[in-house]
Amino acid sequence: MKRIAIYPGSFDPITNGHLDILSRAAKAFDEVVLLLAVNPAKKGNFTIEERLEMMKEATSSMPNVSVDFTDGLTVYYAKKVGSSHVIRGLRAVSDFEYEFQLHAANKYLAPDVEMVFFMASSNTSFISSSMIIQLSQNGVDISSLVPPCVEKKLQKKNAR
Ligand code: COA
Repeated sequence: MKRIAIYPGSFDPITNGHLDILSRAAKAFDEVVLLLAVNPAKKGNFTIEERLEMMKEATSSMPNVSVDFTDGLTVYYAKKVGSSHVIRGLRAVSDFEYEFQLHAANKYLAPDVEMVFFMASSNTSFISSSMIIQLSQNGVDISSLVPPCVEKKLQKKNAR
């Protein structure tokens, strides 16, 4: 049986930090769905369509990765596609409390779906999507922090 995992997040926009976690997860599972999910606490920098477009372009060379969207609960999506595992990345202790709560909520909803945590690599552990936006708005070179399609999209957005 195929081992399918989903990697949910806001990906607003996707960064090399997310791609680091994704590429390692793609080695551990037969298939990984990079899932754009809704965090109601976040306002959003890019539209859903823009985020999906960047996610698809950034992962186009990864044969066992697909991209999808849900406006529902991630564990329900996991069950729908027959996925047994939900991937999340941890960058610092500060991520832990939130992830611990998310883990408990997901376990309450679907006890048979496991969450798997990958530690961020040291060269990407300081990256976050909102930091990328701020750096790019201030003219900082972000080419080593995001995939080229995101850098291009941000350059266009900033020029407006
Ligand atoms: N590298 C770089 N950045 C990372 C990262 C990594 N490895 N891991 C997380 N981040 C950053 C993101 O860029 C983001 O930065 P930002 O706050 O500046 O935008 C931040 O950490 C966290 O974002 P993300 O990992 O995308 O999670 P999230 O908290 O925005 O979203 C969902 C979490 C979408 C998975 C969650 O809200 C969800 O599952 N929603 C659907 C509804 C649901 O099922 N809820 C749970 C039960 S109630």
